[in-house]
Amino acid sequence: MSGWEIGEYGGINSLRFSDNLELPVIRSSNEVFVEVYTTAVNSLDQLMTEGYGQRVLNTLRWISKINEFPLILGREFCGVVRAKGQSVRADIQIGDKVWGVVPPHQPGSIAEYVVVDQSVITRKPEGIDDIGAAGILYAGLTAWSSLYIWGLAGGLQGLKTSKGGGKGKRLCILGASGGVGTLAVQMAKAEEMIVTATCSTNSVQMVKDLGADHVIDYRKEDLKEAFRGLSFDIILDAAGLGSDYATTLPWSFSQYITLQPPVLNNTDANGLILGTLKSAINLLQSNVKTIYGYKGLLKWGFFVPAPQGIEYFRRQVESGKIKPIIDTVYDFNETKEAFDKVAKGHLRGKIIIKVKND
Ligand SMILES: NC(=O)c1ccc[n+]([C@@H]2O[C@H](COP(=O)([O-])OP(=O)(O)OC[C@H]3O[C@@H](n4cnc5c(N)ncnc54)[C@H](OP(=O)(O)O)[C@@H]3O)[C@@H](O)[C@H]2O)c1
Repeated sequence: MSGWEIGEYGGINSLRFSDNLELPVIRSSNEVFVEVYTTAVNSLDQLMTEGYGQRVLNTLRWISKINEFPLILGREFCGVVRAKGQSVRADIQIGDKVWGVVPPHQPGSIAEYVVVDQSVITRKPEGIDDIGAAGILYAGLTAWSSLYIWGLAGGLQGLKTSKGGGKGKRLCILGASGGVGTLAVQMAKAEEMIVTATCSTNSVQMVKDLGADHVIDYRKEDLKEAFRGLSFDIILDAAGLGSDYATTLPWSFSQYITLQPPVLNNTDANGLILGTLKSAINLLQSNVKTIYGYKGLLKWGFFVPAPQGIEYFRRQVESGKIKPIIDTVYDFNETKEAFDKVAKGHLRGKIIIKVKND
């Protein structure tokens, strides 16, 4: 099959197109073989070209008997089921259009075909095209897992059931213009939460249009003044600002959830055991700082390929409450340009790759 692979960690320049990649095979009766129509590039893909997370990911690959190289990136897709294992549930049939995610240790979806477990796909929601369907789940599940799982629900049970539950909760989203942020704003408004969002000047209108109640332009406004005395149930850092940022502003919060946990950097640098230990100490130290400063609890958020989260997004998309925000769509042969765009940042939603032309 054709696809983009890397044979060693050398950054974006190590990405190579090949039309001679081995077809992925169904290895368990729960797996599904999908022809990829559209996929996306996320910051994780770009970081993985540099070897980010290799200690943890190689351990998971070793457990699952998966080779590290050639490494195919791409964590989310929309496509058509071409084969399925015997135990795959009946609502997934050959020929169905599906959307799904690929766990980070598995061969990804920037290729003609991908094989994934049935738990990480559902039928593509109604009312969304193939491009949009490749631009919701990875970032969306990161926001969903952060708020619902790592945020220990925090009163947001609606994120599991789509039946409401966060009404009146105060959520602050830092980086509301990016892939995660644009979805987090829509999720929070679907829950009737009160949303304060930060973004830069040229995104203010877009973020207001997504429903944010209060938008702060972090480039123009004095953040100390803008946040002075404000209190939030949850602050979600979707701007890559990290743990230290929690104590820089005169706000308070019950929970500050950062999507920039140091775990993979620490394990890459120090090995699994020492790296994990170092991360636990980092988390403790950060919490001492935030609690001592009367701010609140600091937590890390991660992408989790949770079936309940995928089902949540399927329902929200079908009810029109969540829509994909797409920055740019690239052709398959422009995959390197798509990675460059992610590396340069300042995204307004998602970077999509059309793998199969209609
Ligand atoms: N832990 C995990 O499992 C996980 C999973 C997914 C993503 N992440 C991380 O989560 C973060 C968000 O991911 P993403 O895919 O949404 O990235 P993205 O699409 O690049 O979005 C980041 C957004 O933040 C804005 N921004 C940058 N600095 C800001 C600031 N100081 N205040 C407010 N907004 C700011 C950027 O626009 P401007 O620069 O133009 O303002 C951009 O729109 C990234 O750091 C990513 O690495 C972690």
